[in-house]
Amino acid sequence: MPPQPAFYVTTPIYYISGTPHIGHAYTSIAADVLARTARAHGPARALTGTDEHGQKVANAAAAAEMTPQQYVDSLAPTWRELAPAFDAKFDDFVRTTEPRHQRACLALFERMREAGDVYEGVYEGWYCTHDETFWPEAKLVDGRCPNPECRRPVQWLSEKNWFFKLSKYNQPLLDLFRGDPDFLRPQSRYNEMMAILEEGLEDFSISRSSFDWGIPLPGGGVLYVWYDALISYISGLGWPDDPDGLYAGFWPGMHLIGKEIARFHTIIWPAMLMSAGLPIPKRVFAHGWITSDSGTKIGKSLGNAMDPFAMKAEFGADSLRYFLMREAPFGSDFSISMEKLRQRHNSDLGNDLGNLLRRSLAMLQQYRNGLVPQPTEGRVQERVADLPALVNEHVMCLRFREALDEIWNLVTLLNRAIDEQKPWELYKHGRGVELDALLYDLCEGLRWLSLLLFPYMPSKATEIWHQLGLEGTPELPWDEELVWGRLAAGTQTNPGAPLFPRIDPPAA
Ligand code: MSP
Repeated sequence: MPPQPAFYVTTPIYYISGTPHIGHAYTSIAADVLARTARAHGPARALTGTDEHGQKVANAAAAAEMTPQQYVDSLAPTWRELAPAFDAKFDDFVRTTEPRHQRACLALFERMREAGDVYEGVYEGWYCTHDETFWPEAKLVDGRCPNPECRRPVQWLSEKNWFFKLSKYNQPLLDLFRGDPDFLRPQSRYNEMMAILEEGLEDFSISRSSFDWGIPLPGGGVLYVWYDALISYISGLGWPDDPDGLYAGFWPGMHLIGKEIARFHTIIWPAMLMSAGLPIPKRVFAHGWITSDSGTKIGKSLGNAMDPFAMKAEFGADSLRYFLMREAPFGSDFSISMEKLRQRHNSDLGNDLGNLLRRSLAMLQQYRNGLVPQPTEGRVQERVADLPALVNEHVMCLRFREALDEIWNLVTLLNRAIDEQKPWELYKHGRGVELDALLYDLCEGLRWLSLLLFPYMPSKATEIWHQLGLEGTPELPWDEELVWGRLAAGTQTNPGAPLFPRIDPPAA
């Protein structure tokens, strides 16, 4: 079997003219959980970035009385801060105004032209600048953009552009979808895209000629912003020159996207790659939307954006990360509110996990001077044998919530062991062997929790690790570390501050 490429995950590159909101943080956090889990098994890479060209940016720059370049340079730092603010670790951040990206776009365009798939034509039709999308007349709703979240007036275009023979790839795409139903998940999005493919694809314009804020093409015009943006997934790996071997080592990868951009990622992008003779992505997962309590998608243009930085200030990055991954299946819409965040923080994190750590270490302190006892054949060991494989499988299939449910079974098991075996009574009655067995199970179980929860809550998981008296971080290979009994007897634990102090609603 040829060597398999290492794990690679991307977020969409975010429109630079927007303001980071909780929806953007959601995709970036999910990509980070995935990448951190993959890194526990081997090399993995994660990419994010900004989408900086197009008519919308050109218009916004003009309104701000800046050149487009000044405008995007002034906004890029805010977007760079988004992922680190939520402890999401990306290996690279690609900006579409970088020379490496421009080179890749022109190289791909050239390859597609050599394949005979690019021709000159006139685009006469409608365009939504806000969504940067061409719309045929028949799709408009009351003469406006058909995207229910947009519904802005559209603009009539008549431009001499380059067209891509997308229609030529209709059948190969149908074959792809039919041959690999996992190519696009969840099923609802798959069905939606199949309907588009079955209706038939038309060629479409991949350049613009009525403004110049984009990647210039030889002979005039600039690349259409979506064509340019999609290529970031490989320009961010160094394609075509591949000076560091990243493209060779990591492509093809997996794309995480919001459900509204599935057509670009699963129809247009694979067709572009097929035309250029490059491998198509392994999988695309289109997640749901975060909505406000009224059910509207949260976004700046709707005026209800929830500020992820304010949420972080109140709950901390880890608690927010946990909430986003636990609240709903990854493909579904769900609503967010401070009350819901508070609820999960206090109950799952404070009562279940935080208290487990606190009471386990307090008892160890009281009965055994804080020293981990000798490992004995514990009851927990056999119950967790399959847990690492199960968690990994769930995460790799984007079932974050189910993975957390499995991890929480261990939290519950350990809490129940305390409640049922009552260590204070074992101590009182001098049943030292049983007490040691229970205390060891608790500490070793907590070490496992620290390793398994690290992808979700990197800083709290590291705190657990340190309170257990371990050095470094739990960013370690699961195969070696998730072996029951590795926690050495005699380890001096180090109980610290509560992990998740209670957060009460503001006084009315
Ligand atoms: N620039 C394009 C993507 C190009 S990728 C080659 C774009 N940018 S965007 O700034 O609008 O970001 C869209 C992405 O942000 C969505 O696909 C999704 O990942 C995330 N979200 C934006 N709002 C969201 C919610 N309300 N809920 C969940 N995620 C959402 O489209």
